[in-house]
Amino acid sequence: MLITNGSSLSRPSLIVMFAGFISLIIMFFWLSPSNNCPPQLIILKQYNSDTNKSSVSDAAKDKPILLMWFWPEDFRFDLNDCKTIFNIDSCLLTDDRSLYSNADAVLIYHKSISWDLTNLPPSPRPPFQKWIWFNLESPTNTQKKTGIENLFNHTLSYRQDADIFTRLHLTVRKKPDEEFVIPKKDKLVCWIVSNSGSTGVGTRIQFYQELSKHIQVHMFGKAYAKFLDHSEYYPTLASCKFYLSFENSIHKDYITEKINGPLAAGTVPVVLGPPRKNYENFYPGDAFIHVNDFPDAKSLAEYLLQLDKDEEAYRRFFNWRKYLSPTPHLLQQQEFDLPICTACDYIATHKEYKEIRDLYEWYFN
Ligand SMILES: *[C@@H]1O[C@H](CO)[C@@H](O)[C@H](O)[C@H]1NC(C)=O
Ligand SMILES: *[C@@H]1O[C@H](CO)[C@@H](O)[C@H](O)[C@H]1NC(C)=O
Repeated sequence: MLITNGSSLSRPSLIVMFAGFISLIIMFFWLSPSNNCPPQLIILKQYNSDTNKSSVSDAAKDKPILLMWFWPEDFRFDLNDCKTIFNIDSCLLTDDRSLYSNADAVLIYHKSISWDLTNLPPSPRPPFQKWIWFNLESPTNTQKKTGIENLFNHTLSYRQDADIFTRLHLTVRKKPDEEFVIPKKDKLVCWIVSNSGSTGVGTRIQFYQELSKHIQVHMFGKAYAKFLDHSEYYPTLASCKFYLSFENSIHKDYITEKINGPLAAGTVPVVLGPPRKNYENFYPGDAFIHVNDFPDAKSLAEYLLQLDKDEEAYRRFFNWRKYLSPTPHLLQQQEFDLPICTACDYIATHKEYKEIRDLYEWYFN
């Protein structure tokens, strides 16, 4: 009896003591001279009222919240990927819309926005919150939905002049690598075509048709009934001497994973896209072949056939590997990891006021 009584009496007093302890801690940090960021404490208080414990402990680390409003292409990846894959741990990345009013930034995938804009986050927008326009498609494949021109604070794109610019870079080796072994090849030219439905693919189809009159091209992908599983992507690339890295449309900086794949696999990319100079901003000029280096598809085919017989000349396309190393890009479900994690890092380090005046003027003109 006594014991039961004692414990039931002590429970409320324990809670009071605990609450007192917490207030003391908060007071301590509030008054501490080293802390001059009171707004973070305010955010903590808001948290306590409408979210649960796990969020509070994350917020306690003072990380900005990045709310992913849509899952791009509905690809759901592990929200811990930024930490585990890229070692980026500077924001709290979430898809939980109930955190909207506390989110420092909201990532909005352009393609998912409905034409009537009714699926955008609600108004009013918290005054500190930034919206990030997230689009990796080229202007040719971007739908101009009216009414969003003046809504955003940052852009996330493949373009180098975007606020948040996403690209897998080759990394400089600490020590020169003397002995890169070119993977075994059993095919000469390969091409994986994923979306033959994109707009603007006319140029590359035309070039391919002309090229294939003079050299055999091994085709893979949905459109060619030779569907490749993820696990087959890199091994397939590696088994070809050349790979057609043909972009679906031609725009400055629109240089996608289509070149990164073969470079990472140990294959020579034959690129069709913006001018060679633009490629050379990102990749060594002797790592790839540009279709514009040839007057026509026939002379390109002749060059490739000649390289097929000249081991020495072919090997020279891998000289860059001595000093630089490629990184395989992530596939499918994890395709958007890198841009999203880059955004996470960005919002943690860019707190300044910014607004995009005319998004389309920048993007389309
Ligand atoms: C609270 O956390 C759990 C998992 O820890 C999650 O499933 C739930 O959605 C969260 N609720 C809110 C309101 O954040
Ligand atoms: C974000 O952009 C919107 C629209 O231009 C603007 O009204 C808002 O003040 C900006 N907010 C911040 C925090 O930069």
